[in-house]
Parts: sequence; structure tokens; C-alpha cells
Amino acid sequence: MTNNNPIGLFDSGIGGTSIWKEIHELMPNENTIYLADSKNAPYGQKSKEEIIHLSNKNTEFLLNQNCKIIVVACNTATTNAIKELRAKYQVPFIGIEPAIKPAALHSKTQTIGILATQGTLNSELFHQTAQQFQDTKIIEQIGHGLVPLIEKGKINSPQIKELLNNYLQPMIEANIDYLVLGCSHYPYLLPQIKKILPKHIKIIDSGEAVAKQTKNILSEKNNLNQESHQPKNIFYTNANPTVLEKILKHNYPVIKKDF
Ligand code: SIN
Repeated sequence: MTNNNPIGLFDSGIGGTSIWKEIHELMPNENTIYLADSKNAPYGQKSKEEIIHLSNKNTEFLLNQNCKIIVVACNTATTNAIKELRAKYQVPFIGIEPAIKPAALHSKTQTIGILATQGTLNSELFHQTAQQFQDTKIIEQIGHGLVPLIEKGKINSPQIKELLNNYLQPMIEANIDYLVLGCSHYPYLLPQIKKILPKHIKIIDSGEAVAKQTKNILSEKNNLNQESHQPKNIFYTNANPTVLEKILKHNYPVIKKDF
């Protein structure tokens, strides 16, 4: 059995391309459709109801294009809306949750840091996960201001460096040995984060795990694309496509569309 329908991904903007890259690397044969809802970024400060509404809209756009599985490539949308999406639509959903578990299990100082949006850190799903690791001290930090700067392509700007410094120094002082990146936009800040953190602090994001999980679910349902062909990778945005094009190194066309 083969299924050449596309894998659909959506995010509040360009950050979920960090997940798309992992998926494309693991399953290069698959057709993909990526939806960047940059017009509505950031999701991190929106109410749960708004996040559910936007997630429904993004899902319907992808379902109209026959996506066989949907990857919610946004931590804020996953932690606030995945339960509702799974209840409403038949298609399988893969979400991205902060990798608290591997960090807590491996931490020697029993102190880990998490950088994420307000929406993620305030969510019920995040609290339920964090509660499972009561022996680990979790230093939570909202990444105020980071997503809008990333969306503007200001990844190497002095503002980003200053914000990261403010957010990470207290974690270093608290003796964390793992930093969890709890937002799919943040892997684009890895070079700057590495400059600030001492070498012994490990950084984890969830991209690779999400890609493996997507492959497992497709394989279990016999829905992998077995045909060898030139896959189609389509990117849509509802805002200025320049930053998305740049982040994709101009290797893929980006379609501007109102949705
Ligand atoms: C945001 O839109 O605020 C960030 C998305 C995320 O949490 O991954």
C-alpha cells in the first residue's frame, strides 16, 4: 500500500519549518504542504479560544488539500488545541510538546530550564507534564518578544541577543544542565543560545522526535509514500513571503495566499 497524499504542517509562522526540515530529512519521498499563519503570529499571547479557532482554520485549509496527517508544528497550538482538533477531525494529528521528559530524566543537577511562550507555559498540558517530574526543579521562562523578531527575520539582531541574555542568565545561575526549547521558532536561535550557555548545558528541542513519531504513525497505518518520485514541497504564507523564502534558502517556492 502506498499513499502519496501530502503530510500537512502548520505553525503560527516560519518557526515550524524547523520541524518540516526534520520530517523532510527523515522521509524525503513524502509530499508536504506547510502553512505559515504569519498574519496571526504570535499565537503565544492569544486566548485558548483564539488558538483553537486559528488551529481549526489551518487544519481545514490542509484537509482541503487532502493531507493524510497533520503536524501541529507549533508548541502553543499543540498545548492549547490538539485535544479539540483530535475530537473534531478524523485525520491523525502529531503535536509538538516541550521535551521536558528527556531533560528531567537525564538532568544530574535536577534543575532544567524551559524557554517557551506564555500560551505554552500556562497550558494545562504543560502543567500535567511538568507535574510528572516533581523531583526536578523546572525554571520556566517566557520568551517575550522573540517570536515577533524571528518572524521579521531579525535572528542575528542585538535585540535578540539582549533578550536571550536576560532570559538565560538566571537559568545558568540556577545551575540548570538542560535547556528545553519549547517553541518551534527557537531552534533558529541556536547559534546565539550556544554563545551564551556554558558548554556543559545541553539544549533539547523536539523536532527529531516529532519527525520519528510522524513516520511511525504513517507506517502503522500503511500510509507512507512508497513511490519513488520527485516529491512536491509546497509552502503557503498569508503574510510577506520574504523571510520564509530566506529561511528555506530560496530552494522552494512560497505561495502568498489569504487564509
Ligand atoms: C508563537 O506563535 O507565539 C510561537 C509558536 C510556538 O509556540 O511554537
